[in-house]
Amino acid sequence: MIIIRNLYKKFGKHTVLNGLNLDIHQGETLVILGRSGVGKSVLLKHIIGITKPDSGTIDVNGVRISDLKGPMLYKAIYNMGMLFQGAALFDSMNIEENTGFYLKEHGDPVTRKPYSQAEINDRVDHALEMVGLQGTQKKMPSELSGGMRKRAGLARLIVYRPSILLYDEPTTGLDPITSMQINELIVKTQKELQATSIVVTHDIQSALYIGDRLALHNDGKIAYIEKPDTFMQIDDPIISFLRKSVSQDPRSFKE
Ligand SMILES: Nc1ncnc2c1ncn2[C@@H]1O[C@H](COP(=O)(O)OP(=O)(O)OP(=O)(O)O)[C@@H](O)[C@H]1O
Ligand SMILES: [Mg+2]
Repeated sequence: MIIIRNLYKKFGKHTVLNGLNLDIHQGETLVILGRSGVGKSVLLKHIIGITKPDSGTIDVNGVRISDLKGPMLYKAIYNMGMLFQGAALFDSMNIEENTGFYLKEHGDPVTRKPYSQAEINDRVDHALEMVGLQGTQKKMPSELSGGMRKRAGLARLIVYRPSILLYDEPTTGLDPITSMQINELIVKTQKELQATSIVVTHDIQSALYIGDRLALHNDGKIAYIEKPDTFMQIDDPIISFLRKSVSQDPRSFKE
């Protein structure tokens, strides 16, 4: 359970978060939609504690993340993982090392037990297979396409099996078929880990496919948060635009 109250954040004179409130339920997939530049990435970085609010609070499973820094923060977010916008792989490490990074660094997110190298290799291979990147273990990030780098970022996140997953634009810039594979992976990971997922996206098709609830981030706040069908019927110019851009409900593609 994540509880966000009265979150304010300014950069210089520019107010990005303006008294934002949001409750995220245990085990749900919450999708946050919103125009470019409204502060969706900034919000995710607050939830994982790497950006601090000017005021307001964020509690994750009873721990006030917004007050923590350094090793205390590090410890509190072991069970959280984030796919950063643009994948953000380590350029000097190959795909295998990138994917296994958190496993090696942190060990098991719950017990903190270190993993053996054989265990790391096994899990890395499996994760790369899940995202369709088998055989790329020894390649460097610069040798992969943008979409492949994004999938490698996703492998690095899911291999670690965190209980809270934050995804920043997981499908942006990918072709529709790869996007659908990523959507399926997000749903599958969610089920497998019984995780709580927060997904920021522009992609309404993806939002409808994966979301238990959809939220609209606008004017520094969460303007609406509803189950998908209710959300899509809201009388608002942005949602009306989203409604018009859906040609076929992507949920009809689910088996
Ligand atoms: N570290 C920072 N310093 C100064 N301004 C920042 C910083 N991070 C974000 N901003 C500003 O905050 C605003 C919100 O940025 P953010 O990246 O959260 O937008 P977004 O909703 O994720 O947009 P997009 O959909 O394009 O990714 C932008 O105007 C951005 O320039
Ligand atoms: Mg962003």
